[in-house]
Amino acid sequence: MSIRVVRTAAELRGLDGTIALVPTMGALHDGHVQLMKHACPLADTLVASIFVNPTQFGAGEDFGEYPRTWDADLERCEEAGVDAVFAPEVATMYPHGLVNQVMVDPGPLGAILEGEQRPTHFRGVLTVVAKLFGLVRPDVAVFGEKDYQQLALIRLMVETLCLDVEVVGCPTVREVDGLAMSSRNRYLTRDERTRAVALSQALDAGVAAGPHGPDDVRAAALARLADFGVVPDYVALTSPDLGEPVPGEARLLIAARVGKPRLLDNRALTLGPDALGHAPEGS
Ligand code: PAF
Repeated sequence: MSIRVVRTAAELRGLDGTIALVPTMGALHDGHVQLMKHACPLADTLVASIFVNPTQFGAGEDFGEYPRTWDADLERCEEAGVDAVFAPEVATMYPHGLVNQVMVDPGPLGAILEGEQRPTHFRGVLTVVAKLFGLVRPDVAVFGEKDYQQLALIRLMVETLCLDVEVVGCPTVREVDGLAMSSRNRYLTRDERTRAVALSQALDAGVAAGPHGPDDVRAAALARLADFGVVPDYVALTSPDLGEPVPGEARLLIAARVGKPRLLDNRALTLGPDALGHAPEGS
């Protein structure tokens, strides 16, 4: 295998030309491969980082058992055209330890939806992404839309902290039956895997109800989840930037536990012009 594995900041300085970065926590699947393929033509050198970031896991979450599949991950990176895999030690990412350090505060956008369920999660995500940007110094970084709130927060961080990185979002990659690909899908038992399709079907139902307004969107999504006996943590209808929905482009986001894993999914949708009871413009 010819792929280069890089562990330190000094080794990263030896990379050539412009850099595209795909940050990951490993346990790579076809969704990650698509991110890498998308990133490949965007710069001279493609770096994928593999780092299971301890600070984004809350107490009692699955940090210890998060799947670590190093050999298979390297093969996938190589197939996808990655030039170098950055796989730092915890001490490289957190030289002052996990507690005694500066962390990025995600602000109010980090406190809603996933942030309500996992109050310290986005603080850990933004901190590690900022560190990866500082170490790898990418020109462009590619993230999946599956973690939509994460992508929105990374964009906001880049803008707010004036980081000189172009952030590119890529559409969610799905299994044949619609389930969004995720490293945590491997926790699903056979029965749970069958029920996990509830999320994408609920999104389909919600999207189809878009022209009829927010109440119908939520009702359609909830009904489909109930068909599968799935109780969501939330079904949220928002504007594309996660604010209040208005007629036009919107986002529907669902999180639900199916057995052990908590699954997330989301879709873009269009709310009809008078969907919120607003008079259409010009009338
Ligand atoms: O989406 C992920 O895999 C992680 O949250 C990320 C962005 C690599 C940060 O650890």
